[in-house]
This record gives sequence, C-alpha cells and structure tokens, in this order.
Amino acid sequence: MNKQFLQTPYKLGNIELPNNIFYAPLAGCSDFPFRKMTSQYRPGLIFPEMVKMDALIRNDRGTFHILDYDKNMHPIGGQICGSNPKIAGRAARMIEELGFDTVDLNCGCPVDKITKDGSGSGLLKNPQLIGEILVNMKAAVNIPVTVKIRAGWDESSINAPEIVKIAEAAGASAICVHGRTRQQAYKGPANWDYIKAAKEAATTIQVIGNGDLFDADSVKRMFEYTGCDAVLISRGTLGQPWIVEDSIRLLTGQEALEREFEECRQALYEHFLYTTAYQSARRVSIDMRRVGCWYFKKSASTRAFREQISKADSPARIRELILNFQPGEPLVECYAKSPHINEPSSECCDELSAT
Ligand SMILES: Cc1cc2nc3c(=O)[nH]c(=O)nc-3n(C[C@H](O)[C@H](O)[C@H](O)COP(=O)(O)O)c2cc1C
Repeated sequence: MNKQFLQTPYKLGNIELPNNIFYAPLAGCSDFPFRKMTSQYRPGLIFPEMVKMDALIRNDRGTFHILDYDKNMHPIGGQICGSNPKIAGRAARMIEELGFDTVDLNCGCPVDKITKDGSGSGLLKNPQLIGEILVNMKAAVNIPVTVKIRAGWDESSINAPEIVKIAEAAGASAICVHGRTRQQAYKGPANWDYIKAAKEAATTIQVIGNGDLFDADSVKRMFEYTGCDAVLISRGTLGQPWIVEDSIRLLTGQEALEREFEECRQALYEHFLYTTAYQSARRVSIDMRRVGCWYFKKSASTRAFREQISKADSPARIRELILNFQPGEPLVECYAKSPHINEPSSECCDELSAT
C-alpha cells in the first residue's frame, strides 16, 4: 500500500497545522529575521531557539527578546529547557500566554552547561522526570505539549522507545526523536533506526523524525524508512528557507525547482534586509558573518566571499558584497554532502546560558 506521508493539513493534538514538515529550534540561528525568511514558505511549524524555564519565569528581558515573533510566523511553537517540574507548568503557561501555538520540552541539548543540572539531554538519564515535567506542562496549558529527545545518552543507553511510552502516558501530543545520541553531539550520521523503533513503540503519540534532513530527497526517505508522522528539519533550513516547498513538491510528484545562484543571492539579500530592519548596525555585521555563509555554498569562490563578509564592518559594505558577488565554477560537493559545518558554536551556547 502506498502510504500518504505528506499531510495537508496535519492535526496535532487539538490544533490543525498546514502540513507535517516542521522547522527546528536552532540556538543562535532561528532568530526573528531567520523566521521572517522561513515562514514565507509555510512550514507546518517553526520555532525560535529554546529558552530556559527559570529565565522565563523571572521575566528575563533577553528571553522575551528570543521569543519575539510577528503574526505571519504562525504556526509557531515555543521550546523550553529545564529540569525542575515545579516551574515547568508556569513556564509552559507563559509560552501559551505569549500566543505560541505549541510548547515543547527540550531533552536534546548536549552542551555541558545545560546538562550539568540535568536539563536538555541530561533528562535522558532520568526518563521518569521527563514524564513528571510533561504532566505539569500538560496540566497548565490548552495548547499541544510536545517533547524533543535524542535516541539516548550514548550507544549503550538507547531509551527513546521507553521515553515515547512515558511521554504518551503524560499526555504529550508528539515526540520528536533526533537520531543521534548525546555522546555524538552533532557528529556522525543520525541513526534513523532509532526513529523507526520509536514510531513502533508509539500507540497514540505522534512521532516526528529529525536528523540529517538536508534536501527534499532525505525528507522523503525519512518518511519512508521510519514511518514517522512528521519531520523536523534543522540545519537543512540554513540557506534553504524553501526546503519545505521542495519537499512538498517531491512528495506530491511535482517537478523539482532548480534553485539558481541568483535566487540564492536574492534570498540572502532579503535575509540581510530583515536583519537590518530588526538589529542594530553593529549586530547586523556580526549576524551576517553567520548568515552570509549559508546561502552560497555551491560555488568555488564562496570562500573569498565568506572571508570578506566576516571582515565587513557596516551594513552598507555587506550590501555591496552581496549584490556584487560573482560566483565561480559550481562545486561538485555541496552542502547536502557536508552537513557538519553548522555545528552550534560555543557563542550560541554562551547566549543561552546568559539568559
Ligand atoms: C546551531 C544549532 C542550534 C541548535 N539549537 C537547538 C535548540 O535550541 N533546540 C533544540 O531542540 N535543538 C537544537 N538543535 C538541534 C537541532 O534542532 C537538531 O536536532 C539537530 O541539528 C539534528 O538535525 P540535523 O542533523 O538535521 O541538523 C540545534 C542544532 C544546531 C546545529
């Protein structure tokens, strides 16, 4: 039987989303300008980066800044990180009151600063606590509660299927499984067998597949191989805000759209404009060092472009560089084959722990 993987609309708990292809929370990357850019392509759900529960409930300004969004970004989920069940309900309710459509618990962040108090992927070592936190979140809100985990802490302690059962019993609407362990961090391939096993363990809870989704083809393969209900694209969204559109075209048998160089330039320029509209001039220069690397990946002369943009000290200079860049010969090796260049920097994590 030919299973229909793409669902338009897609029902998650008591809400309806446009489709079941989601864009991930990405610390240091899925900021307001990034979401202005990506939401135009109508992914089923998008996220700002995770925020800490304790920072949220003490009304930390930086945390509210991270959660800033505009109405065109709906449907949008908020992700919270922490290990204290006593404040989880309050934090989840604040996400709901801010107008988010779903609230997610982070059980995947591998960074020591986060795991040392048992938060993020530290929770994988204490599955019962995940259940307790989810029960409290669920009791506090009406929006769907979801959870994002890794396959396990390390290869010898794979427990995604066990956590699926716990999350289901706690009333979570969906569980997203990243097919890497905490020990792997972002290195090596994601093992989709773990996602498949999680789906097999699920009775009513929706399972969302995550890890190594870098093009429409891998999205299709993830659905086919794991039988997951939805997918969450992470690094594959960087410089490819249209990846949901490409995936929908493939899943519905439409011809692929060739993303020519000029389209990538236009997208980078548009992303730059969103950044200038939102950030201070100094911050634009810093942010564009990161963003500038995402859009031109397939051409031999992009290294020079990246070097120049990292030295650019004003938005005017960045604008000039983007509009005048001349691509060299296309490279055979493309981003899809070298996905590990966007590992979270310690800078991202510093931003997080500052909240
Ligand atoms: C720069 C960066 C920041 C991330 N920030 C978050 C985050 O805030 N919350 C979260 O649940 N996962 C975060 N992740 C993990 C991704 O959402 C995803 O699970 C992981 O990258 C695997 O998917 P991929 O191989 O397709 O990139 C981050 C990953 C990266 C690379």
